[in-house]
Amino acid sequence: MVATSMKQKMLEMLNGQEGQFVSGQKISEELGCSRTAIWKHISELRKEGYEVEAVQKKGYRITSTPNHITANEVKLGLNTKHLGQNIVYQESVTSTQEIAHRLAYDDVPEGTIVTAEEQTAGKGRLGRNWHSPKTNGIWVSLILRPKIPPQQAPQLTLLAAVGVVKAIQKETGVLAEIKWPNDVLVNGKKVVGILTELQAESDQIKSVIIGMGINVNTSAAEFPDDIKEKATSLRIEAGKELNRASLLRRILEETETLYEEYLQNGFQVVKLLWESYAVSLGKHIKARTLTGVKEGIARGITNDGVLLLEDDTGEIHQIYSADIEI
Ligand code: BTN
Repeated sequence: MVATSMKQKMLEMLNGQEGQFVSGQKISEELGCSRTAIWKHISELRKEGYEVEAVQKKGYRITSTPNHITANEVKLGLNTKHLGQNIVYQESVTSTQEIAHRLAYDDVPEGTIVTAEEQTAGKGRLGRNWHSPKTNGIWVSLILRPKIPPQQAPQLTLLAAVGVVKAIQKETGVLAEIKWPNDVLVNGKKVVGILTELQAESDQIKSVIIGMGINVNTSAAEFPDDIKEKATSLRIEAGKELNRASLLRRILEETETLYEEYLQNGFQVVKLLWESYAVSLGKHIKARTLTGVKEGIARGITNDGVLLLEDDTGEIHQIYSADIEI
């Protein structure tokens, strides 16, 4: 378990009072810190974008919180055991995946996540770029260390997609669907992309790094021309601006619940849920693989997360990696 900082504890105290003042004396008694230390942490919170009112004889209260995905914001009320308990946050990064890879080598605890407000070189699947502009999306990488054979790692990609769909539904009411393997779509347009990368030694997984890119508050005009037709955001679909930290918390909670179920009982429950959200199953699809295009009906997925496609002759093809057109 990662230790909670004094600043975080103070934030939790202030936040728990829902706009009421908390006296300096109470903070100092409960947290065992001096008035000077309190003042220092209040200044830090203000620098992070919190508006904190300080009134003599009454104390402190938060009047406005930033729409940021800093460690402080995300950890407020986060109900997980491991996922997101250790958060590495930077305002601007090349790619959260890159940082997560470095941290994973350094043996950070399982469940560590890396978040950023912007990525200057966000990575997508199949060597593509991922558009990650400042402050309107969630760009996050999760570090997991499951004791499973490397060939089962794709199951975690599907698990992550299910976690995100459930979280979006609970947080915003928007019904999202999954296009194999892990594009999350709303009304046929992509709202989330997931990139899973492995660190493995001989036949053992050292870590699985799951990168999620979620278009949260992006407006239609902000999407570059080449993705405008295919991409959407939760704000466009829900018709209102969303709190990113709150959505990220929900994603971490849903993903951890599924991950625990997966580690205990295997892939079956995740597979069933994935199939219930899948947009392509039973439909005629085109799969663009590295070796060419295959067309047919998407029949299902295997226990390793491989897509089964039945062509016109009835032959079943196993698709390991492809772009799918429905
Ligand atoms: C896709 O191509 O659909 C996958 C996109 C994954 C993007 C996320 S954003 C956070 C993490 N960091 C990256 O550089 N990429 C992933």
